[in-house]
Amino acid sequence: MDRALLGRFDELVERRGYQNRSEALRDLVRKELDQDAWQRGTQTVATITIIYDHHVRELTDRLTSIQHDHGELIISTLHVHLDHDHCMEVIAARGPARSLKSMADRLIGTRGVESRHVVVAALPSGGRHAHGH
Ligand code: NI
Repeated sequence: MDRALLGRFDELVERRGYQNRSEALRDLVRKELDQDAWQRGTQTVATITIIYDHHVRELTDRLTSIQHDHGELIISTLHVHLDHDHCMEVIAARGPARSLKSMADRLIGTRGVESRHVVVAALPSGGRHAHGH
């Protein structure tokens, strides 16, 4: 690595409070691998969190039908009635990155959704695990 690049990297390490370069590198590599898996369409897991006003006309119906369209991807959904107006939904999903991304884009792009957050991780190779039965 050239001196200038290393210098900038060291500043990043410092700014983000990493203990050392290795720790920062590990973090960067993991992030890049997740991003790569997301882009190549390999198996990933994701949580999609949305907050919306359930009084907005047809919004709840629309969000539900998007989830039914992608039923094979969804592991579980958590619905919380936050206050008189607002609901929060956290959707856990697993599948090819491209499919998850397309579902996430539809959900977070639905008119009336006020807040959204998507977290993605690549599945460790193998993907499925068993408990010995
Ligand atoms: Ni609700």
